[in-house]
Amino acid sequence: MNNTFRNFRHKFLNIEKAEGIYIYSNRKKILDMTAGISSFQILGWNNNFINNAIKTQMKLFSHICYKTFNDKNIDKLSNILIKNADHKLDAVYYSGNSGGEACEAAMKLSFLTHQAYGQKKKKWFIGRDQSYHGIGTDAISIAERPGLEIYKSFFSKFRDRVSQNHYLYERYAGESEEDYSKRCAIELEKKILKLGPENVSGFVGETMMGGLIGDVEPSKNYWKYIRKVCDKYNVHLILDECYCGLGTNGKLYCCDWDKITPDFIFVAKALSAGYVPMSAVITRKKYEQKILDKFGRVLHSTTNQGHSLGIAASLACQKIITKKKTLNNVNYIGNYMRKVIKDELGDHEFFFDVRGRGLRFSFEYRCKNKNQFGLKLKEIMFKKHHILISGKWHRVCFTPALIINKEQSDLVLDKFVEEFKKLSKSWH
Ligand SMILES: Cc1ncc(COP(=O)(O)O)c(C=O)c1O
Repeated sequence: MNNTFRNFRHKFLNIEKAEGIYIYSNRKKILDMTAGISSFQILGWNNNFINNAIKTQMKLFSHICYKTFNDKNIDKLSNILIKNADHKLDAVYYSGNSGGEACEAAMKLSFLTHQAYGQKKKKWFIGRDQSYHGIGTDAISIAERPGLEIYKSFFSKFRDRVSQNHYLYERYAGESEEDYSKRCAIELEKKILKLGPENVSGFVGETMMGGLIGDVEPSKNYWKYIRKVCDKYNVHLILDECYCGLGTNGKLYCCDWDKITPDFIFVAKALSAGYVPMSAVITRKKYEQKILDKFGRVLHSTTNQGHSLGIAASLACQKIITKKKTLNNVNYIGNYMRKVIKDELGDHEFFFDVRGRGLRFSFEYRCKNKNQFGLKLKEIMFKKHHILISGKWHRVCFTPALIINKEQSDLVLDKFVEEFKKLSKSWH
């Protein structure tokens, strides 16, 4: 009898080893375009530099209490995460292991900051439709992901949502992108006014809407207009960059494309690239000072926050990610792959859109039984070519590791375009 309680009933592939962007299973070498299915293995597997950093740390100590002791790597990592940003945030809080934990930490830090400034009533958080921020109760109560409604009884009362940001889907006939962005900001403003500005703590959104809807870049100046509304009502702007941040989008932070400074950014996946679970919240030193002045401590902690092996792994990862060479590769391969897909399939009757930033991008198609089409395409790519892609719903999402090279991306493109054309011919 198997004693493991799993999330699904399907047959699980045994993985024998993984190296770079390849996983090895049943003597097959599989090229992974998903970075580990949920887009975390962004520097590939078995990277010597990262492995050695973890081993070195292990010999010193595996973990020390974040609330009591200092591990010299912590400040080094914080410094890298701050000095390579265009935004003006200047403090990093290590929240725990997962993105969901980081989301909840950001919400609690926002709440505590307002409390410390005497804004006692600010407890509402506003999220957006078609979003996901993790599986913790607070994270799901501001998100909208199919199936999560089942947990409605867990949700806090003080949560609300506005529309997603998706120009192609949501624009009015003849509406410019800029006007659409303004309309989104007005919707947020109306929501804040309805709840009462004195009651609203923060607005939470993925800087670029992610894998659920398929890598939708923010519409023109969207974040600038949203920032203005948040400033007007003293509402914190909290950005989720678990999926789109830390190099994956072609810059260290995705919001640096949008030239804004939020109040909080939370990151996970790419922070330690799957080597050791790790997450963090990037925010302002003045908030830390204010909370400590008022309460004497941050009333939020977990045993494994700032885990020393996670910090060592993250430090090594961020040293690689912040190299010019890495970010140049992300932008070069991402732009190249989107261009080839557009050139090859742009006139195809199923083509709807190809979009995204860096190596977070999606190809959206329109046809009958869309979900089945994506799943079939994924199956063909896997069985015939040993290439793992994420195809489902209405899109194929490409989130390869940042180290993918031109030759590997050409192989994927050749097979993908060929199989897409073949399958669509016989698709009803
Ligand atoms: C945008 C986004 N935010 C948060 C999370 C949650 O991260 P974790 O699964 O580490 O809790 C995810 C995970 O897929 C995500 O895509």
